[in-house]
Amino acid sequence: MSLFLGAQASSLLRILLLFFFLTALTPLLSACSNSPAPPESIASPAVPSAAAANPVHQIVLPHDEPDFPPGAGRDVFMSRCMVCHSLRYITMQPDFPGKTWGKEVDKMVKTYGAHITPDEARQITAYLAAIKGSDKEKQPQP
Ligand code: HEC
Repeated sequence: MSLFLGAQASSLLRILLLFFFLTALTPLLSACSNSPAPPESIASPAVPSAAAANPVHQIVLPHDEPDFPPGAGRDVFMSRCMVCHSLRYITMQPDFPGKTWGKEVDKMVKTYGAHITPDEARQITAYLAAIKGSDKEKQPQP
């Protein structure tokens, strides 16, 4: 009988000890889990904004096509040299002697197949030498 009581008492003690440890550990565990409550905006989204309502987003890219000063040959240059690439290919070059521009235009025709007549090539070369020539032998004629 006394043995039976003893066994009961010890199991009661074990339950009490377990209870004590659990209550002692709970605040410790919650202190370790370092997750703050989600902010109000995530937990409950506010009224959807116009951007969220429209799934198509639009961005405006800057238009930075370079400006070319007026002058003889400008129109033929603008119409022939923009066919395959941006005119930035020209503005990003250093100033060249007119002879080099002539070779460059020639290369566009012979190597890349630009449709430019010899007369147009002369006009374009003169214009390029005027606006981006290192020898500045000519100024564009307005
Ligand atoms: C038939 C297409 C075409 C036309 C028209 C054209 N180009 Fe080009 N151009 C090219 C190609 C292809 C390249 C080389 C691109 C590369 O290397 O990424 C090039 C490159 C260039 C470059 C960079 C330097 C170089 O030699 O590679 C310059 C400057 C240039 N072109 C000037 C002109 C000028 C001036 C005209 C008008 C006379 C012109 N292009 C017309 C096709 C063309």
